[in-house]
Amino acid sequence: MSWMTDRPLNQFALPRGWRGRLAGWVMARTNGTEVAEVLGELGPVRGRAVLEVGFGPGLLSRALTGAGARVTGVDPSGVMLRQARRRAPGARLRLGSAQRTGGADGEFEVVVSMNNLPMWPDLDAALDELHRVVRPGGRLVLAWHGGTEPTRRTLGMLLPAAAAERVLAGLRARFASAELSRTRHCEVFAATR
Ligand SMILES: C[S@@+](CC[C@H](N)C(=O)[O-])C[C@H]1O[C@@H](n2cnc3c(N)ncnc32)[C@H](O)[C@@H]1O
Repeated sequence: MSWMTDRPLNQFALPRGWRGRLAGWVMARTNGTEVAEVLGELGPVRGRAVLEVGFGPGLLSRALTGAGARVTGVDPSGVMLRQARRRAPGARLRLGSAQRTGGADGEFEVVVSMNNLPMWPDLDAALDELHRVVRPGGRLVLAWHGGTEPTRRTLGMLLPAAAAERVLAGLRARFASAELSRTRHCEVFAATR
């Protein structure tokens, strides 16, 4: 269950067992374009301490390490941890969640989450935690499917306007600034602490 729905999380939202492995395989083959767009939203990451929340099969973790970032990642799925460690051996990946990252206060210059914001059990607890681990002046970027040209696959997953407003209000209550923008395939909430 999550802050957006009272239905149990499916295999894409919280991958487990062989179905979860299959979901990871599918995500690794379908989310490449979004990874490139999210990376573009982060600006230069070379040498920066970056936390990735909900890394799934590890495509963005791999892209971040390839761009020279010092990557830490947390995800509550053991199945995803194994897939992502294989895909992004240069990243420090561990079990954890948006609401419990295990990071120190102000440890990261950039915190990024791609395609897991609606799965968090408690939005406010997660935003408190992510605000805590972003360094003053650092950035939080939360991306979700959508954008100016959602694909047929993502059309049924768009964030309802009320949910987007709730995220933006939660960010503005905690961060110095926050805005919502769109890439071709993603909704992007970006906040500066
Ligand atoms: C749809 S997948 C997206 C994976 C990857 N970011 C991508 O875009 O390919 C959602 C991921 O969020 C993770 N997840 C579920 N609940 C979470 C939470 N509370 N905090 C962080 N990640 C979570 C799942 O384990 C899964 O790996």
